[in-house]
Amino acid sequence: MEGEGECSDNPFTSVMTLAKMRVPHVPQRYVLPPSQRPTLTLDLTATLPIVDLSTLHHASQRSLTLDTIQGACKELGFFQVVNHGIPLPVIHDALAAATEFFNLSLEEKMTLLSDNVHNPVRYGTSLNHASDKVHYWRDFIKHYSHPISDWIHLWPSNPPSYKDKMGNYAKAVQVLHKQLMEAILETLGLNFGNLQKEIEEGNQLMAINCYPACPEPDLTLGMPPHSDYGTLTVLLQSGPGLQLQDNKKKWLSVPFVEGALLVQLGDQIEVMSNGQYKSVVHQVTLSAENKRLSIASLHSLPINKKIGPAPELVDEQHPVSYNEFSFRDFLDYISSNDIADKRFIDSIKKSV
Ligand code: OGA
Ligand code: NI
Repeated sequence: MEGEGECSDNPFTSVMTLAKMRVPHVPQRYVLPPSQRPTLTLDLTATLPIVDLSTLHHASQRSLTLDTIQGACKELGFFQVVNHGIPLPVIHDALAAATEFFNLSLEEKMTLLSDNVHNPVRYGTSLNHASDKVHYWRDFIKHYSHPISDWIHLWPSNPPSYKDKMGNYAKAVQVLHKQLMEAILETLGLNFGNLQKEIEEGNQLMAINCYPACPEPDLTLGMPPHSDYGTLTVLLQSGPGLQLQDNKKKWLSVPFVEGALLVQLGDQIEVMSNGQYKSVVHQVTLSAENKRLSIASLHSLPINKKIGPAPELVDEQHPVSYNEFSFRDFLDYISSNDIADKRFIDSIKKSV
């Protein structure tokens, strides 16, 4: 594309392009109002939970681990997992495929460009380049991933190893998601068997995110504060940058643990639990020196399945607190609303 290197007249400019040009300042559209700018030097004193998933297979340790998971889900909606069963080479291959994809020429990536949130595969920048008022310092490729045979032919055919490497990781995370759901539903006292089929046939959307080094990381963000819509998001990151809000709305930096995966509770779990568990509000900060990659695997029940509070968790003291919604309802919401202004889950909370 002619416009690579010129951003003023170009309706689409990737942040990889800006980073390659070594712009000394972020263009005005990336500058956030002062109240929304991040604090990059949060203290790391808060210890965020790390769960050794191998202990779930040991009868003597299982209930203690489930207690840790329950505490993490109630207080933060977040924990890290180690010994999760996904081999390190599979993780490194997925990150390598992501690196190579974002290093392709803009022309090549533009073949997958789309601002339609209903498309099963799309390349883009910010949240939605066509409608964002403020832009975020992120490029992404998103694709549906489960069942993989339905979608993989639509994935990038360059780099040539992309489908293989990202596919291996996608399949492994789908298995991990099911194990995590089984544990989390158990901590809520819900019967996994009742939901098993819908979990197995659920939607998996992978968001592969690229956050190049940014000349002014104190003025902008890679992603604004938001929660994910689904059941769980399993996040793989190449370095630090994620921040999350605790239950007092205080921002915490997530420490980087090599080989660990991050588990974030999404809106579907908050609704299913009738508010016992909360989806975690998170944002992405940038670095002046380092590019960061992340692979977010967003899982949800089948696209048209309406999810409401589990009847077992509703009684006189705990009346139904949310209206039902499906993943499709969420997509319709973000087609016409800016999630940087108002969280989706606030639109389905029942007023008391
Ligand atoms: C997301 C997300 C976090 C990250 O894709 O929804 O929150 O670290 N990503 O990239
Ligand atoms: Ni997210």
